[in-house]
Amino acid sequence: MSSPLAEAKRRRTFAIISHPDAGKTTLTEKFLLYGGALTGTAGAVKARGDRRSATSDWMEMEQQRGISITSTVLQFPYRDCVVNLLDTPGHRDFSEDTYRVLAAADAAVMVLDAAKGIEPQTLKLFEVAKARQIPILTFINKWDRPGLDALALLDEIDAKIGVTAAPVTWPVGIAGDFRGVIDRRSGEFIRFTRTARGATEAPEEVVDPQRALAEEGAAWTTAHEESELLETMGLDFDEELFLAGELSPTFFGSALTNFGVRLLLDSVIDLAPPPTPRIDVAEQPRALDAPFSGLVFKVQANMDKSHRDRIAFLRVCSGRFERGMVVTHDSTGKPFATKYAHTVNGSERETLDEAFPGDVIGLVNANDVRVGDTLWLDEKVSFPRIPSFAPEHFTVARVRDTSKFKQFRKGINQLDEEGVVQVLRDPDFGDQAPVLAAVGPMQFEVALHRLENEFGAPVELSPTSYTVARRTDASSAAELRSMRGVDVLGRSDGTLIAVFESSYWLDRLMADKPELVLEPLVAGELASSVG
Ligand code: G4P
Repeated sequence: MSSPLAEAKRRRTFAIISHPDAGKTTLTEKFLLYGGALTGTAGAVKARGDRRSATSDWMEMEQQRGISITSTVLQFPYRDCVVNLLDTPGHRDFSEDTYRVLAAADAAVMVLDAAKGIEPQTLKLFEVAKARQIPILTFINKWDRPGLDALALLDEIDAKIGVTAAPVTWPVGIAGDFRGVIDRRSGEFIRFTRTARGATEAPEEVVDPQRALAEEGAAWTTAHEESELLETMGLDFDEELFLAGELSPTFFGSALTNFGVRLLLDSVIDLAPPPTPRIDVAEQPRALDAPFSGLVFKVQANMDKSHRDRIAFLRVCSGRFERGMVVTHDSTGKPFATKYAHTVNGSERETLDEAFPGDVIGLVNANDVRVGDTLWLDEKVSFPRIPSFAPEHFTVARVRDTSKFKQFRKGINQLDEEGVVQVLRDPDFGDQAPVLAAVGPMQFEVALHRLENEFGAPVELSPTSYTVARRTDASSAAELRSMRGVDVLGRSDGTLIAVFESSYWLDRLMADKPELVLEPLVAGELASSVG
């Protein structure tokens, strides 16, 4: 039987983050192609004429919008490793969801479009990755087309997200006339050859510097000089800074033509860390070979019309998972049977018999399980919960057809448990008119769509005048409730949230009445960069 330690060492669990259209889906397909997980051609994963029906886009709204909201997991073997690739939503409004996925990943690959660099809409997602202090590899995609200057792109990464971009490969030929890359570790030229639509692996030829000069002329000389310049700028790989999330090994390529895809995937294997012992709430590491434990990082119901059920995604943190085990659900202390454990590859489900640290399990009909919960076997452990973000948008939800109130209430509770939106209740209106709170307004669109389509509850959203929220306690709440411009609402986890119409009013109140409890909603780690 395989040991959890040996299996953990072979795992690489990482998330891909990118702006919509930067090429995340294409790169994912190409990883599968290089992993040998695609039989036939890469285009087979998604029908070209109907490309929005890619493996990972299964919600109607995602298809309409062309963004991916629900995260998917793909597992495939590569070299002697097992790769677990986690998808993240490509929009800042869903950065809280991205943060949860990153809680289950050991590294991230950031995909940028060479012509666009870091777009304002996605900046928040990258900041979230930075806040998690997760090692990030960067892939500058679409180099086959005219784009920005390579050095300017490096500067932009540094200036906008505060991560030093250290090129591992450097492009030979300008964007639009892409011939290959210098592998800066060996100084060799890797020449790529196009294949039709990148349907098969791009042939690569390793060329020594002298021959590269003779054959590529000025394109080689320029690339070579720039690469040396990078060295004098101190832009070389540094493992310690990489693991601390401060330096990002950077690769140039084109997912469409497969240029640079193998180099990137090899580097994920070589550089990204395998699972390490996760730290629990008592700040003790849970050894990888301790009995099974896992952290739930996502819960999603009704993902697929043919499976109308609720699935909890759990990242294995220690031990060997075997289907059928009866584990303990830490927050309730109740036993939890894992008869219905699945791997979820895109929207495909397969029964899963065993899993190891770094793997992701989908537990079907995990009705009491919530995001941030721990499950364990034999030896109790509680992992820190995943912090919620401070909401910045608030709206009141009411059912349009009162005969559908039951469905409405059920739907609201479900969305709350999944963390699609935060649900805040006024003690006077309760379930009739809950306040939905979100990091970005697109979360409301998802909530509205799902309430109508999955739960059959047509909903009306009305604006509120709240702009800022703070955590408070019962005694402060009594006083706050008597004031104007502030309301106190309850969250389902029992937290009391004071919502203010203006941050100016909040600041004044904090200055005038320092005895009132009005704390920021996010934990320290996030407050500065994300909150
Ligand atoms: P996303 O998941 O990040 O949203 O991006 P996706 O992979 O869907 O790619 C967005 C578009 O960019 C697609 O074009 C895709 O073919 C193209 N693309 C991806 N990588 C590269 C690349 O390396 N070079 C070039 N030139 N294009 C790339 P589309 O026109 O929207 O779709 P399709 O008709 O090509 O399928």
